[in-house]
Amino acid sequence: MWGMRIFDCVFAVSWCYLVLFAAARVTDPTEVHALLAVKSYLDDPMQHLRNWNKGDPCRSNWTGVLCPATVGTDGHFHVQEIQLLNMNLSGLLAPELGQFSQLLVLDFMWNNLTGSIPKEIGNISTLKLLLLNGNKFTGSLPDELGNLSNLNRLQVDQNEISGQVPKSFANLSRVKHLHLNNNSISGNLPPELSKISSLVHLLLDNNDLSGFLPPEFSNLQNLRILQLDNNNFGGSEIPHSYSNFSKLVKLSLRNCSLQGSIPDLSRIVNLTFLDLSQNHLSGTIPSNKLSEKMTTIDLSDNQLDGPIPRSFSDLPQLETLSLDNNHLNGSVPANIWQNISFNGSTRLVIDLRNNSLSNITGVLNPPVNVTLRLGGNPICNNSNLPKKGVFCALEAGEDLPMNSTNSTVDCQKQSCPIADSYEYVPASPLRCFCAAPLRIGYRLKSPSFTYFPPYIDQFDLYLTSYLNMDPYQMSIESYIHEQGRIKMYLKLYPRVSDPSNRFNDSEVLRIRGLFTTWTFPPNDFFGPYELLNFTLLGPYSNLHFGNEGLRISKGIWAAIILGAIASAVATTTILTILIARHHARHQRVLSRNRPSSRASMKIDGVKTFTFKEVALATENFNSSSKVGQGGYGKVYKGTLPDRTIVAIKRAEEGSLQGQKEFLNEIKLLSRLHHRNLVSLVGYCDDEAEQMLVYEFMPNGTLRDWLSGKAKENLTFSMRLCIALGAAKGILYLHTEANPPVFHRDIKASNILLDSKLNAKVADFGLSRLAPALEEEGTVPHHVSTIVRGTPGYVDPEYLLTHKLTDKSDVYSLGVVFLELLTGMHAISHGKNIVREVKMACQSGLMLSIIDSKMGAYPSDCIEIFASLALCCCNDKPEKRPSMIDVVRELERILKMLPETGTVSSEFTYMHSSKSLSSSSSYSHQGQTGSSWNVLGSDAMSDATLAVSPR
Ligand SMILES: *[C@@H]1O[C@H](CO)[C@@H](O)[C@H](O)[C@H]1NC(C)=O
Ligand SMILES: *[C@@H]1O[C@H](CO)[C@@H](O)[C@H](O)[C@H]1NC(C)=O
Ligand SMILES: *[C@@H]1O[C@H](CO)[C@@H](O)[C@H](O)[C@H]1NC(C)=O
Ligand SMILES: *[C@@H]1O[C@H](CO)[C@@H](O)[C@H](O)[C@H]1NC(C)=O
Ligand SMILES: *[C@@H]1O[C@H](CO)[C@@H](O)[C@H](O)[C@H]1NC(C)=O
Repeated sequence: MWGMRIFDCVFAVSWCYLVLFAAARVTDPTEVHALLAVKSYLDDPMQHLRNWNKGDPCRSNWTGVLCPATVGTDGHFHVQEIQLLNMNLSGLLAPELGQFSQLLVLDFMWNNLTGSIPKEIGNISTLKLLLLNGNKFTGSLPDELGNLSNLNRLQVDQNEISGQVPKSFANLSRVKHLHLNNNSISGNLPPELSKISSLVHLLLDNNDLSGFLPPEFSNLQNLRILQLDNNNFGGSEIPHSYSNFSKLVKLSLRNCSLQGSIPDLSRIVNLTFLDLSQNHLSGTIPSNKLSEKMTTIDLSDNQLDGPIPRSFSDLPQLETLSLDNNHLNGSVPANIWQNISFNGSTRLVIDLRNNSLSNITGVLNPPVNVTLRLGGNPICNNSNLPKKGVFCALEAGEDLPMNSTNSTVDCQKQSCPIADSYEYVPASPLRCFCAAPLRIGYRLKSPSFTYFPPYIDQFDLYLTSYLNMDPYQMSIESYIHEQGRIKMYLKLYPRVSDPSNRFNDSEVLRIRGLFTTWTFPPNDFFGPYELLNFTLLGPYSNLHFGNEGLRISKGIWAAIILGAIASAVATTTILTILIARHHARHQRVLSRNRPSSRASMKIDGVKTFTFKEVALATENFNSSSKVGQGGYGKVYKGTLPDRTIVAIKRAEEGSLQGQKEFLNEIKLLSRLHHRNLVSLVGYCDDEAEQMLVYEFMPNGTLRDWLSGKAKENLTFSMRLCIALGAAKGILYLHTEANPPVFHRDIKASNILLDSKLNAKVADFGLSRLAPALEEEGTVPHHVSTIVRGTPGYVDPEYLLTHKLTDKSDVYSLGVVFLELLTGMHAISHGKNIVREVKMACQSGLMLSIIDSKMGAYPSDCIEIFASLALCCCNDKPEKRPSMIDVVRELERILKMLPETGTVSSEFTYMHSSKSLSSSSSYSHQGQTGSSWNVLGSDAMSDATLAVSPR
């Protein structure tokens, strides 16, 4: 009766929020469905997607699903990136992928996906990066992909795609990178592609293309790399229009069955790499001087004749000149290297074997860095040739090692004291430091050079400067040249000044984000890269790339909580959702903050104490400093050097936890701040000791006050305030703490009183996290663990089933309320307080057991409080009010109290606890009690707080 109207009203509000909550602040249901469809089409042997059914994709931790931090105009979250590279996935891509309306990145690189690329992907008009390289896709490229007018990068290389390049690709008006190489694509190159004015890299090498090279391609005025090696343009010529490519850096047409002559490419000012080898090109080599940037000229295995152009002697960057297996004649210019300044790593390989070269112009005395091969030329018959054997071998031989493992500094020989995954690395200039590297598999897909060592430093600088790092923070562990590509393993290190010796999590995410979204500034010389893997080992191994940065504002939580007051059902539903959300967030936070070592541990807002400091504060754990004893261990009072008084909990042998667990709990505790929670000051994690340092509560425990150990007696309003404070602290743990915490051991001796007798809940949060969502669509019900708690306070349902819920804490708090009412112990002389009070209530003797030390109290208020307490102690969890209901009800009772100090006629004076069994004030019981299911009888259930709205 009381409160029912309010509850009706609040129920309406709650429903509004429920609707808001359910309909608006979640991922677009179509996209949720699409993600589930994507998962259902995949084979996921490593279970990377095992959390793709828990909670909401954008709000929980769905692996590889990234969303923006805010909802769209339609009030829904929309998936922005799907990043599932290198996850051992096989199976198919679901057509439902087409249902993402705001997707920017679709990344399935380096898996084992089969089937064809679904044409529905063409519906994702927002898509910028489509990254499907390194799979086993078959079938042809769908025409519909041409609809992706916002696409910047299309990578489908290294698959088994057949069919033609769709003409519709001409509509990819924003595409810069078309990587279709290493497939079985056949047919003509559509001349229409020349309309893609934005195109920068066109890689179609290693396919079955035929037909001819479209002359129109020279209209691609932004094209830097044209790589078409290993196709079969049988009989086609290299269009002479190609001399008009204005920005071309690399032209690679190796083994394309090309005929005709080589066009004059001397006007392409930035041309750096030219490979026309293994064709049927004939005629003479154009004599006009090529760009000074040339590093590589490979015209080998053709039918070229005439002389070697003198202009080849003017190329200061040249490192490869391959003219072998042609019909070149005339003399060898002995000055090709004249303009090259060799240093430690530069070299030049000139291969002129198997031509008709008969003479040498100048004195043949190449520097050590030059390898000259003349075998198979008439010149080798000339006995005057110096070092004949060296120059005239027919085999190419191994000139210089092309692959390398880095052997920079001896740092590696030392071992890091921290952990296996850390290593000693050189920090500039001559210093080693211990650091945990990020490991990156990286491949230059189409570099404009053939020999890497001269450019390693430049490459280091290029990558690190963009990563906002110093060059020493990167090392190339090893690299290998493979068919024109350079595959390497990189390690990135934190700054030497970084005290944690590792990247923090946001830094890892930032770095990975840069690599996976190709935001590096284009560098034509190094060309496009591919990310082979980004392995997280050691301290990073628990980092998860799901949705980041998504936080739900306090306001929304408040709204949800406010709205949820009305019905127990609504409340339960929302609470469970909240708990799940918190838990999901918690997991992320926890896993991202996993401490790596004792040495690198630093927790915000919490001090670290050494054993010595604590020993000093407690006079070496003097027994006179001991103020209590709990399950965890002894509690000492200590005085810090700055005179702050603290309580120190020292774990006993059996209570010691693993260091990781201990530190995780500290992290958790350090984030719990509420005026009704005892706050953590610091901790000591020293050798065999684990200690928690809390603020000291001068007024001790509620139990002490109820037992009369304190000087004063607590009045009813003081007791109500204490009850309310405790309830608020616990409500915070349930709903506001991140992650949510079930206390599990609420009792009068865990409720401490500060100097102003404010209640503060203690001993929370140790190993006791709230549960996660279990299955799709089901709400979290419980955590099953070993029963913990104190006899007399433990939820009977929990005892039976081992299922811990938020209602278990409600039960324990109800017992504390009964203690506040009666002053009794939860269990004394074999009597259980709940049963005693229930029996007293049933026999109309309620007031007879009210604590006589309480003094005067308004009887209606005490009845409501008693009803609330008993309702909390209902055997059936679902009939107990939720913590928010408890808080509300206590507030309501407090408001009903007359001004403290004014004793009105409503107060009943308690002279003798026994004499009041039939007090007139108790006759109200019939009215008030009917609102609460005081005795847990089913007859009253429809009038209880837990009344269902349905
Ligand atoms: C793909 O499957 C093959 C065997 O079928 C396996 O050897 C390979 O490691 C897989 N690759 C990936 C990236 O999962
Ligand atoms: C050639 O390269 C330089 C340096 O990368 C660049 O500034 C210039 O614009 C390029 N020229 C053309 C025509 O692309
Ligand atoms: C190239 O020449 C320089 C200077 O003579 C020398 O120090 C270096 O070792 C040579 N490099 C190779 C790879 O031979
Ligand atoms: C080789 O070249 C020199 C001049 O560079 C010339 O005198 C000589 O006749 C040439 N020999 C042959 C066989 O062509
Ligand atoms: C988040 O995902 C990662 C990777 O799948 C997983 O290790 C972690 O436990 C997940 N956390 C939650 C709360 O699901």
